[in-house]
Amino acid sequence: MSSSKRKAPQPKVVFEGVSKTFKKKGEPLEVLSAIDLTVDEGEFVCLLGPSGCGKSTLLNIAGGFERPTRGSVKIDGAEIVAPSSKRVFVFQEYGIFPWASVWDNVVLGIRHKSKAEQHRIVGEVIELVGLEGFERAYPMELSGGMKQRVEVARALAVEPDVLFMDEPFGALDSLTRLTLRTELLRIWNERKPTILFVTHDVDEAMQLAERIVVFSARPGRIAEIVSVDMPHPRDIGGVEYGNIKNRLYELLGVTHMI
Ligand SMILES: Nc1ncnc2c1ncn2[C@@H]1O[C@H](COP(=O)(O)OP(=O)(O)OP(=O)(O)O)[C@@H](O)[C@H]1O
Ligand SMILES: [Mg+2]
Repeated sequence: MSSSKRKAPQPKVVFEGVSKTFKKKGEPLEVLSAIDLTVDEGEFVCLLGPSGCGKSTLLNIAGGFERPTRGSVKIDGAEIVAPSSKRVFVFQEYGIFPWASVWDNVVLGIRHKSKAEQHRIVGEVIELVGLEGFERAYPMELSGGMKQRVEVARALAVEPDVLFMDEPFGALDSLTRLTLRTELLRIWNERKPTILFVTHDVDEAMQLAERIVVFSARPGRIAEIVSVDMPHPRDIGGVEYGNIKNRLYELLGVTHMI
């Protein structure tokens, strides 16, 4: 998360010709086809597409949990072959440990650091996600939104330079989702990690991303990359917002005028 060399965009995550074919009941199932994408350092990119188009698979490949059938993913020029703590996942259903307090959940990834460092970092990220006062609470005492904040805090504690988020707010009510989006944007502005965020929610992508990568249905291909060159907070009632949103729906093949 260096802030010193952010003048010219630096490629951070580079997908080159990534394809993935799974075997399903002995039959090949092509899930991703020839994905080329460069995400710059500090960029916030959303992956948007219909269910089953391979969004999670692409993140799993970038995270080193799956291998591509063809092509490669490089981060800082090095090919990804295994997971690393510098690249952190936040999943919708990943789940924090129910038997550990908020503090203990957040400290998990940085146990190798000195006690003083742990204290500083955990205190900082807990404040960043707005959970001060809940350090000693257990997950059963928290709302869904608060649990998701713990998850985000845990990810931030390891100071990742790339954050992969797979529908992290999908299970939450719409008001909590809105709040957490705003908070994520604030955190991104403060720390500028590179973020790849999967969603099938057009508004979520519109509110968050600098660029939206729209996927076609399976096998997932990039249909178009849509830039959202609008400052935050975005005027969601404005013409520009409406035009981009219409384009996204068009690309997704959905009629949304009702
Ligand atoms: N490990 C696996 N083995 C076999 N098939 C798989 C595996 N993982 C995913 N698939 C298949 O690959 C396709 C894409 O799955 P993936 O989870 O990447 O889609 P997605 O775009 O994330 O969908 P959603 O929006 O519903 O989360 C699906 O048809 C799924 O059944
Ligand atoms: Mg998925």
